[in-house]
Amino acid sequence: MLIRHPNDIAPSEITPPEIYRERRRFMQGVSALAAGAVLGVSPKAEAGAKLAGVRASAYRLDEERTPYKDVTTYNNFYEFGTGKGDPSENAGSLKTRPWTVEVEGEVAHPKTYDIDALLKLAPLEERVYRMRCVEGWSMVIPWVGFPLNELIRRAAPTGNARYVEFVTLNDPEQMPGLRRRILSWPYLEGLRLDEAMHPLAILAVGLYGEVLPNQNGAPIRLVVPWKYGFKSAKSIVKIRFVEKPPLTTWMAAAPREYGFYSNVNPEVDHPRWSQAKERRIGELSKRDTLMFNGYGAQVAQLYRGMDLQKFF
Ligand code: MTE
Repeated sequence: MLIRHPNDIAPSEITPPEIYRERRRFMQGVSALAAGAVLGVSPKAEAGAKLAGVRASAYRLDEERTPYKDVTTYNNFYEFGTGKGDPSENAGSLKTRPWTVEVEGEVAHPKTYDIDALLKLAPLEERVYRMRCVEGWSMVIPWVGFPLNELIRRAAPTGNARYVEFVTLNDPEQMPGLRRRILSWPYLEGLRLDEAMHPLAILAVGLYGEVLPNQNGAPIRLVVPWKYGFKSAKSIVKIRFVEKPPLTTWMAAAPREYGFYSNVNPEVDHPRWSQAKERRIGELSKRDTLMFNGYGAQVAQLYRGMDLQKFF
């Protein structure tokens, strides 16, 4: 029998795991604050490190935020497995530094951004958004990010740019799920240019004031709160401006089930289930799903005159 010296016992074995993890996150936050005051983020930009200089924004909700633990352990990120718990268990193999994002296609100023330069492109803001997954569950998440339109303006799209395509990392060494051909890889998503320019669409680099955990799409992901969650592409490496609507991963997989727009719409059912109600994670009874996920006042004009049964 091995009798261990007290010095060999990790604090995690003595302290209840919840408290230990909270304390660790707090300590990381303290040291990150010192470094971040100069750099904007901690030198290693590790998940859980506090992001410095995050502004409050007008995008707040009078709804309870989904606990950090649920936001970071109940995920869809098929590059790390198809189970909800797989991403948090497996995404530790994703290396988020060095990381670049290429901006290319129909733009006057194509550019490859280093992720740390991208973090300083525009002031970081907290945006508390309702998120609705096409599977019928929802969360309220305090994202940290900046408007996608800040990047688009700098790229200066040409007159031919009508759509924006988001290409995500495709590295089977880091993402074991890519070895299975369950979807066409890399995971691709797209928006119409005017949707991408809408102030609600952001590039997120954090949540709950901290660097984005890998399972949530580190180091940078899209967040489009009036659309089903699958439009919010994770771990983006390329943003391409194009003339024609991109063939997204989900449209390629099941064109009858997933359209290009994918706006949250309680009146248009998924062919296999209703979209009228949703289960907010942490709540027992179901809620009514809101048109455009409750962001109709801001975004409905983007779709004026369109038949939303047809353009689903
Ligand atoms: N991005 C990539 N690269 N791969 C994915 O499998 N899943 C999508 C979207 N972005 C996915 C992705 C789906 S189906 C959803 S619901 C959201 O990410 C989930 O985001 P969350 O886990 O942060 O809540």
